[in-house]
Amino acid sequence: MINKIKEHLKKIEVLTATTAEEIEKIRIEYLGKKGVFKDLMDDFKQLENKLKPEMGKAINELKSSVQEKLEKLKSSQKVSSGKSKNTLDLSRPAGETEAGSRHPISIVRQQIIDIFSRIGFTVSEGPEIEDDWHNFSALNFPKEHPARDMQDTFFLDKNQELALRTHTSSVQVRVMENENPPIRTISPGRVFRNEAISARAHCIFHQVEGLYIDKDVSFADLKQTLLYFAREFFGEETEIRLRPSYFPFTEPSAEMDIYWGLNSEADYRITKGTGWLEIMGCGMVDPNVLKSNGIDPNVYSGYAFGMGIERIAMLKYQVKDLRMFFENDVRFLKQFSSAY
Ligand code: DAH
Repeated sequence: MINKIKEHLKKIEVLTATTAEEIEKIRIEYLGKKGVFKDLMDDFKQLENKLKPEMGKAINELKSSVQEKLEKLKSSQKVSSGKSKNTLDLSRPAGETEAGSRHPISIVRQQIIDIFSRIGFTVSEGPEIEDDWHNFSALNFPKEHPARDMQDTFFLDKNQELALRTHTSSVQVRVMENENPPIRTISPGRVFRNEAISARAHCIFHQVEGLYIDKDVSFADLKQTLLYFAREFFGEETEIRLRPSYFPFTEPSAEMDIYWGLNSEADYRITKGTGWLEIMGCGMVDPNVLKSNGIDPNVYSGYAFGMGIERIAMLKYQVKDLRMFFENDVRFLKQFSSAY
């Protein structure tokens, strides 16, 4: 019996196996129900008691060397199969990477910036949290003006002196405070109004403000600049008209419409049957506003304008519901390429 064990020990030492199946076969051969150990134990039971301790020890030694061998084989198999997994196939075609797309509001915003920067307008920004002075007072809003109401404006809970800006006209004030004329700048940004959310209104939206101050700036300059913008944005043939309006910070004030046409039923709906669509508010900067901001209205004059980016994006992309710009539905956002 001891010789049998010795033979097995020698055999085990030189055993090789590379696959999991081969290793399992060895395990079964030795440790299985009908394996070598089963036979040895059967023989062991027949032994005289005095031989049992020595033989038991030999069997245990054999058992541990079998187990050690199996472990060794397993771990070397892991290493080699690990190696094969890491082998790179450099000829394999690359997987597709899905590129994101820019948000339609960002695309239109950039297009507006590009159009105005071609005629010398810089880009300026101001804070979204504003005080009464920058959002209202310096822009000639009378104290009792309804826009200051809680209904329209989000005031800060912690400090009722501060509010979320209701328009980007507040940036006009910041620019006039910090720069001397000539000033030629546009200010894109987010604005906030306490309004019920619907297909045509939202409590957050985007505007672009424009401000031009120099000597001898006239209403004709304003009209020509806006015509240039409309034609660059909506096409060479675009016609505009200016309708008299009222804003506290401009005098005279106007609203600019573009001729959209009446070619389809939808055109009748969006232009209310007139063919004209309102695009922005504008006017000559009120002398009171210049004065409030330290600019002499006897020397300088200027014009200002402000437009809603969502409104322009809705027209450009024929989007019927403003809320879509804020919902971040990938199926909607995917449709806009950043080229324009
Ligand atoms: N601030 C106005 C608004 O939010 C838009 C506007 C109108 C801006 C006329 C101007 C302007 O600069 O001259 O509705």
